[in-house]
Amino acid sequence: MFIDDGLLQALPELSEHIKQYAEVHNDRMELVIDPIAIPGGESVKQNLHFVERMQRALYDNHIDRHSYAIAIGGGALLDAAGLVAATTHRGVRHIRIPTTVLAQDDSGVGVKNGVNLYDQKNFVGTFAPPFAVINDIDFVVPLNPRDKIAGMAEAVKVSLIRDGTFFTWLERNADLLATFDTETMATMIRRCAELHMHQIAHGGDPFESGSARPLDYGHWSAHRLETLTNHHLRHGEAVAIGIALDARYSVLAGLLEPGEEERICFLLEHLGFKLWHPALDHYNAKGRLEVLQGLIDFREHLGGELTITLLDDIGVGIEVHEMDAQHIIASIEWLRERTAN
Ligand SMILES: NC(=O)c1ccc[n+]([C@@H]2O[C@H](COP(=O)([O-])OP(=O)(O)OC[C@H]3O[C@@H](n4cnc5c(N)ncnc54)[C@H](O)[C@@H]3O)[C@@H](O)[C@H]2O)c1
Ligand SMILES: [Zn+2]
Repeated sequence: MFIDDGLLQALPELSEHIKQYAEVHNDRMELVIDPIAIPGGESVKQNLHFVERMQRALYDNHIDRHSYAIAIGGGALLDAAGLVAATTHRGVRHIRIPTTVLAQDDSGVGVKNGVNLYDQKNFVGTFAPPFAVINDIDFVVPLNPRDKIAGMAEAVKVSLIRDGTFFTWLERNADLLATFDTETMATMIRRCAELHMHQIAHGGDPFESGSARPLDYGHWSAHRLETLTNHHLRHGEAVAIGIALDARYSVLAGLLEPGEEERICFLLEHLGFKLWHPALDHYNAKGRLEVLQGLIDFREHLGGELTITLLDDIGVGIEVHEMDAQHIIASIEWLRERTAN
């Protein structure tokens, strides 16, 4: 069992509880070694160091393809541990117990894992459905406000591309969500996870063999912003900016009704997101806007034709195959101005 050390700081008695649980159920399970603490947060994904450390633990403890490697923690630890489980003996059984809002409502219920390499997000990884996922809202309660807010970006995202009714629900419940009302958070997480799982199971392309990635609305710039800020911006925080950027772009491209982008930004801000970061404004030595590299990376990561999801309406995503650099720059300017005012 691999435990996120950030989670352990919040719940120091967790290791002991796990050991007691295993003892009580020793007729059905054997914990081969005490839970192993692994650093949480993006640092676990920044190279292969911790992947190898976890692989070594599976080797040392003779974990075979009928054993289970269980990971409990945030999306970053789950991504790294998922890669470990998927590649050790070409795949040992893997159970995920996500403990952040983002991991419970999005990453933990998906089929992807991976770590970053060469300054590229998720450069090394696999598609591998876990054996099981256990979501428990009690884990979210001790999470810090910043991470509680960050995970809500994925709910706004999936509502925008798939479910306008859910978007209206988020608007109506923004006060309760902004104050982290547990029951409302649980409802949001459940609906968001359902929408993600539905897309993966019924969207026709669970392992993303095509060039489209509908669940990644707002993500082409977000991934770049995460790298540009050295992960000072959390994934969800970068996604919120990416959502706002592509909402304004959708208006400029003549897809989304003018005014709707303002409604989207208002909801994100109400939930606690900041929609501007100076990294949006970085130019490289060649005078090129750094964030635009995100489009190139995004296409390369997916392969094939560039495919970006934009908004045709709230609740209705639409795929396009090119983006106009001038419209992107204008959208960034718009974000800067509306945040300054
Ligand atoms: N695989 C996918 O499909 C997918 C999808 C979206 C995002 N992701 C990835 O997920 C990662 C972000 O995950 P995240 O938002 O969960 O953040 P995170 O994993 O970075 O965790 C944030 C912080 O919270 C701590 N923590 C975890 N659970 C806690 C708890 N219950 N109480 C207190 N502290 C706790 C961690 O130690 C860490 O310091 C990114 O690397 C992103 O790329 C993956
Ligand atoms: Zn995401």
